[in-house]
Amino acid sequence: MRLGVNIDHVATLRQARGEAYPSVVDAAHVCLNNGADQITIHLREDRRHIQDTDVEAIRLVTKKFGKPLNLEIGVDPEIVDIAIATAPDWICVVPEKREERTTEGGLDLHEPQNFERIKAACAKLKKEIPNVLISLFVEADEATIRAAKNIECDALEIHTGDFARAHLNGEDTSHFLEQFRGSKKLCEELSLGHHAGHGLTLESVEPLVQEKLFVEYNIGHWIICQAVFDGLGNVVKKLKEKLS
Ligand code: PXP
Repeated sequence: MRLGVNIDHVATLRQARGEAYPSVVDAAHVCLNNGADQITIHLREDRRHIQDTDVEAIRLVTKKFGKPLNLEIGVDPEIVDIAIATAPDWICVVPEKREERTTEGGLDLHEPQNFERIKAACAKLKKEIPNVLISLFVEADEATIRAAKNIECDALEIHTGDFARAHLNGEDTSHFLEQFRGSKKLCEELSLGHHAGHGLTLESVEPLVQEKLFVEYNIGHWIICQAVFDGLGNVVKKLKEKLS
């Protein structure tokens, strides 16, 4: 099972103050030095966290480590062109709304115009980037998964956000697990990789890992949040030593 670490929120912290730190390049190094299997970043149209220059810089780090860069993008033509120029190993196509706080759900593959836009973008990415692998961020429902098979892609990243929130709230998650078992089976039949992403934590990932429901997990926000508590004490200690 692969772990993709999404480092968008290192950039969120940097952008909040407009300083050059914390460095996303250093963050990528730390993740890859500690066992991450890939780095995931989302270049949003509004550039609220990851910037164009970050994409290039992080690409160099993943190349140095010989590990994949997974670039999440919407199908806006400008962003698609940047993806082509970057030539990442994986591209995860996601829906994107400017007003949303984070990606709020999977791609709508049922609305014909939307489907055609995504299909055309994926065909362009496949044509322009040799050997690129594409995943589509979708809900775990059968109709969507079957529709995805009509788009040039290699894997589906299943939206786990609602499952993760239910788990966090101590609610019954058995219907989500049932859905994920179904999406895994269907993806296997259709020769598509079965990836997971959104909202996952050390605790909520556990039932998924136990059942080997997914081959790849992309996790970001919780990792950066937890890193605060795993590091805060050390940093205060260092400063206190300086002051004494
Ligand atoms: N996968 C996809 C497609 C996403 O859009 C995101 C959020 O950028 C993630 C995974 C990571 O989600 P989180 O930050 O909630 O762990």
